[in-house]
Amino acid sequence: MSEKERFRYGGNRVDVEWDGRLCIHVGECGRAKGELFVGGRKPWCAPDLVSPAEVVDVVQRCPTGALTYHFKDAESAEKPDEENSLTVSSNGPYFVRGDLKLEGANAPGLAFRAALCRCGRSKNKPFCDNSHEEAGFKDSGAVGETGEPLAGTGGPLRIVPLKNGPLALTGNLTIRASSGRVAWTGTRVALCRCGASNNKPFCDGSHAKIGFSDQ
Ligand code: SF4
Ligand code: FES
Repeated sequence: MSEKERFRYGGNRVDVEWDGRLCIHVGECGRAKGELFVGGRKPWCAPDLVSPAEVVDVVQRCPTGALTYHFKDAESAEKPDEENSLTVSSNGPYFVRGDLKLEGANAPGLAFRAALCRCGRSKNKPFCDNSHEEAGFKDSGAVGETGEPLAGTGGPLRIVPLKNGPLALTGNLTIRASSGRVAWTGTRVALCRCGASNNKPFCDGSHAKIGFSDQ
């Protein structure tokens, strides 16, 4: 990623960073009321025009992790949601939140929010880059299985993109269907990222049949 794709907007107590490689223009930032983000203004983001609490609130709405905030004092650093959750969006990516440990090439390691490719077409795997739109990827985001009861909701959630195969997730996880319904809970799951499973969002081995390559 070139440095031009990352911008840091400085404030007295807190900076906001935008990572263009991760942004898929969902628009939560632009829709937020207030002066933090104003389209067409230079700078687009002005952390000192709102309270630090508002910076935190608006930045944490960004479902991709493209926006992050950085307080000058380490004690106010972002903390993960108390629940690790993954929402299967309609015709789009997995939106994951929580105490994420993203492994594999191209992944940042620790993260709190991410949009992960499930159509198989992203040029920025494991992240979504909106290629599902061009590819005409269709899946309603319904979830048919229920999993196992959870003893807890948080803690580290390890996410490993297996070579030419699914995303392997290990840790407490709640999966929501695109409707918002809590559909599945469990601590170990393989989720389709080739776009071909007949049991989405779960991997059913179809990646081998279609010769899925994650390159
Ligand atoms: S909320 Fe995040 S992903 Fe959405 S447009 Fe803003 S920065 Fe991009
Ligand atoms: S990754 Fe899609 S079926 Fe396995």
